Amino acid sequence: TKGLELTDQRILITAGGTQEPIDPVRFIGNHSSGKMGYTVAKEAARRGAEVTLVTAPTALQTPVGVESIQVQTAQQMYERVMELQAEQDIIIKAAAVADYRPQKIAENKIKKDDSDLVIKLERNPDILAELGNRKEEKLLVGFAAESEDLIANAEEKLERKNLDLILANDITADDAGFGTDTNRGIIISRTDREELPTLPKEEVASRLLDRITNLLERRGEQ
Ligand code: C5P
Repeated sequence: TKGLELTDQRILITAGGTQEPIDPVRFIGNHSSGKMGYTVAKEAARRGAEVTLVTAPTALQTPVGVESIQVQTAQQMYERVMELQAEQDIIIKAAAVADYRPQKIAENKIKKDDSDLVIKLERNPDILAELGNRKEEKLLVGFAAESEDLIANAEEKLERKNLDLILANDITADDAGFGTDTNRGIIISRTDREELPTLPKEEVASRLLDRITNLLERRGEQ
């Protein structure tokens, strides 16, 4: 199957779970494998797009034809995305970005003693919300990993972050979300909802890119 073309579209994709250091040996992380973002990157490149992947650490190989930029923290991801955003036609934010980071990173490995340890966390920038604030022509696509009120929460994010599309997953399902090879969810735009059955992540990526191409075509007709 060929899929719709994305020839010459510049697409920035983020993937993986950010790591927020506590000290030289420890970090706060999450269960994102990076599979969804990498799969979208691979399929977009196959369709002729010029793809840049800004990725937090994963065990995955960079797909053929994709330029990969490695980062660790949300702040680093924010900086790289902001440097690159102006030249993109489409930005797809599949990364699981830590909302908080340790306020101070200990210079040396923290030693244990008998008392409890308190680590103060401060907010990370919301990369996608910042992109939404400054968006002009660009197409912005987000992901929403939810454990309750899937559609309502995803629609709220679509609106608040000024997105064109959002792919909502129920992370409590064992065939969707983090670490699985399949995904199940719903693609929500400003005008409609497309419910996806349980599908391999390749097929989810394909459907998402089809929707993006449709939106671009509709814009072209206006
Ligand atoms: O608000 P929530 O984290 O559920 O939103 C998910 C979407 O926002 C994802 O597309 C994620 O990549 C993006 N995000 C971000 N920066 C953050 C938090 C989330 O870009 N600090």
